[in-house]
Amino acid sequence: MKNLSLKSVGLEKGQLYETIISTLNDDGVENAAPIGVLCKNKYEMVLYLYQGSQTHENILRSASFVVNLTRDALLFTRSTLGDLSSDYFFHMEGNPILKDNEAYIIAKVTQKKELLRQNDYGSSKMTVITAKAEKIIKNRECVHPLNRGILAVIESLIYFTRLKLADQESRKILYLKIKEMNRLVQKVGSEAEKKAVQDILDTINQNFSELE
Ligand SMILES: Cc1cc2nc3c(=O)[nH]c(=O)nc-3n(C[C@H](O)[C@H](O)[C@H](O)COP(=O)(O)O)c2cc1C
Repeated sequence: MKNLSLKSVGLEKGQLYETIISTLNDDGVENAAPIGVLCKNKYEMVLYLYQGSQTHENILRSASFVVNLTRDALLFTRSTLGDLSSDYFFHMEGNPILKDNEAYIIAKVTQKKELLRQNDYGSSKMTVITAKAEKIIKNRECVHPLNRGILAVIESLIYFTRLKLADQESRKILYLKIKEMNRLVQKVGSEAEKKAVQDILDTINQNFSELE
């Protein structure tokens, strides 16, 4: 079988995607958690893992993990709020994989580096993991990995269309929400998504001068 690249499952170089990473705990029980995956090139990915999570511990111990590409809201929610039961997984060559996904990638860690990252809540210790895709399996002809950029553009457009209907106080709140979406798009969006939010902000500045 031809080796698939990350692009073949919709992962574009330089973009960050929200995925569900599955790993094995040291007692053999499956673990899953939503984790952002940065596509570095054709076969390499980078994860920024907060220290202290089960996923962090498992990846450091086993030097391997599975990236599950899904848009299933319940899977994202249930794997965040608690632990998914074994019924959600199947196993291949010792790797736990979510049964319900559009595609999955079995990855091996090639590099790890510790990092202190400043964020809105202070500073957190992270481990930056670089990993290589060993196996990429597509379950759909067309895979749509989840990127927050397009969601932020759509939210911005909805806030924009409400500006005309809103009173002055609500307008300020809507504008702040659009600026927050812009901050997100600058972080995780594509060039087209960045341009889209800039167009929205430019239009606001031309039509609602009191908001500047
Ligand atoms: C959409 C989404 C993306 C996330 N991305 C990351 C990430 O990139 N790195 C990280 O360390 N945690 C990330 N988290 C937080 C972890 O999923 C969360 O801490 C989880 O509870 C860890 O579970 P675990 O202890 O079973 O590994 C993300 C959460 C969500 C909802």
